[in-house]
Amino acid sequence: MEIVILPTPAAVGRAAAARIAAVVSARPAATIGLATGSSPQSTYTDLARRVRAGEISFAHARGFALDEYVGIPLDHPESYASIIARDVITPLGFVPSRVQVPDGRAADLDHAAKEYEDAIRAAGGIDIQILGVGTNGHIGFNEPGSSFASRTRIKTLAPRTREDNARFFARLDDVPTHCVTQGLGTILDAHALVLVAQGEHKADAVAAVVEGPLTSFVPGSVLQLHERATVIVDEAAASQLRLIDYYRYTYENKPAWQRNH
Ligand code: GLP
Repeated sequence: MEIVILPTPAAVGRAAAARIAAVVSARPAATIGLATGSSPQSTYTDLARRVRAGEISFAHARGFALDEYVGIPLDHPESYASIIARDVITPLGFVPSRVQVPDGRAADLDHAAKEYEDAIRAAGGIDIQILGVGTNGHIGFNEPGSSFASRTRIKTLAPRTREDNARFFARLDDVPTHCVTQGLGTILDAHALVLVAQGEHKADAVAAVVEGPLTSFVPGSVLQLHERATVIVDEAAASQLRLIDYYRYTYENKPAWQRNH
């Protein structure tokens, strides 16, 4: 796992955007795994800047979102379908029909989840997956206890996740109780993973993901099993890492020939 510690949230976004840009430049028809939430906002902002500057294009790329709430209308401003349209498809110039979000309103949610897995496979898999991390260590909406082998499926949101996400809704009671999320096994299948985190409130989760035991109690610890996982964090989110000096030294002295991606 590569750990990159940068001074500001904006620098985290620029570094993550550089990883995505390299993938889409090498392969314009790349498939990008898309996260929602606050964490990837600075990444999308920098990618949009690169698109406007003519450096990169997502016109031929595909996208798959990580997760979606169950039971809220598609056009609800906080549905992940709405957020992906607003924060990703429009500013990055994806063709809307080439970006999919799990269906949280299907009559048969199990079947829809299996179809989502099939669609990812039919697209040839995900080239690079963007991830945030919840304060309880979840990635996507894989809450503590999620199997490392899990695939896209329905999950019950943890009370802490509903409280964390209540800021996006008028009241805590309005936060959905269930979701559909790519599984940890689905995420592990991506060719490369880039997890971004900013702020002191993420420091414990980042330390548990990077340095804690491999345990389904901290679903993000599954990154330790991935061959090409990069964790890009600001100083505050890095503050609980025990080997912080080693990570800094490694990144600052990275030889040109050492390529993880
Ligand atoms: C959300 C999402 C995750 C996200 C995480 C952290 O609920 N389902 O994909 O990474 O929780 O959110 P944020 O980036 O807003 O802190």
